[in-house]
Amino acid sequence: MTSIESVSVLDGGAAIQLSLADGSSTRFHALWLRDNALDGETRSAGNGQRLITLTDIPEETSIGSARSDGRVLSVTFLPEEKTVEFPAEWLRANAYDRQSDEPAGWLSQAIETWDRESLATIPTGDFAANATDGSALRDWLYAIRKFGFAHLTNGPVESGALIEVVRPFGFVRETNYGRWFEVRTEVNPTNLAYTGLGLQAHTDNPYRDPVPTLQVLYCLENSAEGGDSIVVDGFRAAQRLRDENPDGFSLLARHCARFEYAGSDGICLRSRRPMIELAPDGELIAIRFNNRSAAPITDVPFEKMAAYYHAYRHFAAIMDDPAMGVSFKLEPGESFIVDNTRVLHARTGYSGAGSRWLQGCYADKDGLLSTLAALENTLMEAAQ
Ligand code: OGA
Ligand code: ZN
Repeated sequence: MTSIESVSVLDGGAAIQLSLADGSSTRFHALWLRDNALDGETRSAGNGQRLITLTDIPEETSIGSARSDGRVLSVTFLPEEKTVEFPAEWLRANAYDRQSDEPAGWLSQAIETWDRESLATIPTGDFAANATDGSALRDWLYAIRKFGFAHLTNGPVESGALIEVVRPFGFVRETNYGRWFEVRTEVNPTNLAYTGLGLQAHTDNPYRDPVPTLQVLYCLENSAEGGDSIVVDGFRAAQRLRDENPDGFSLLARHCARFEYAGSDGICLRSRRPMIELAPDGELIAIRFNNRSAAPITDVPFEKMAAYYHAYRHFAAIMDDPAMGVSFKLEPGESFIVDNTRVLHARTGYSGAGSRWLQGCYADKDGLLSTLAALENTLMEAAQ
């Protein structure tokens, strides 16, 4: 780790500048440092939560003095005359003094986008190992964070087994479709998923707000002709749209689409959200795409509607491009999980002799990422 070489107080105590051993330097504001003080009066030693509010800190807070022995920075804040220590490692991990010139649609470094050619091997885990082996579970969750999807093999061919796919990392999200739902041909289907029709690549339930952020599809029977699964990286598709048609990308990002599901009695789910969702600083955070549940779009000005539809068609063509999709046929006892804010799933139509029976359920990504981060910490500590 880079140590602190020297400290200088800037702007009459409004900020400090640290010069680091690797030749770089970084600045911190007095108020930011005071707000993030790590001492026991500011943060609970037990749970790490902040004990004070911002208004407990004087607005005129400044740095009276600051020094470092290389490993730790010691700062005395005025007018409180309070001295707080910050480890150099902590300061490095939380530094914010950088220029950002990322184009709209940038992605976190934890993510790697893919298409059919680049995803040479499908990330795969083992059903039993996930329940018993922390490092196997960590590797599987890591793949989901990175690629937005993973396969799971060697599960039991038993109704409800999909709940055990979720249990090692989180919680099922129950919806009007139940704790889980049956994906097989029905006589009066409440959803076109419950037919033998092919389904264009889609994210599930964009008519919910918030959407379920994870989906599991678990195979119990798949002897029918067809019924292959296809997954598409929606983030790669959005970046392709941005590169091929920047104006189209920004139309889909800046205007809300609408989605609706009212296919069974007593249910009328509606949302108003963009197909490409960006954070205020342009980070690509979610894709919503579903031909079956797209409702009339009424939030695009008349003058822009033709161009919006052109962009929507272009986005759909990218989703349908065989070069984008990774296909496989689930065998009984196999399943896959998708980050439903990123990776679309599709199936080819099926018919003829044989049968096809999948079960599906939803869960949430915050719990998955939390389990992954906690496992990463424990396994790293154990290795030291
Ligand atoms: C679904 C769905 C795909 C399949 O139920 O959400 O998209 O392979 N099913 O049946
Ligand atoms: Zn679906």
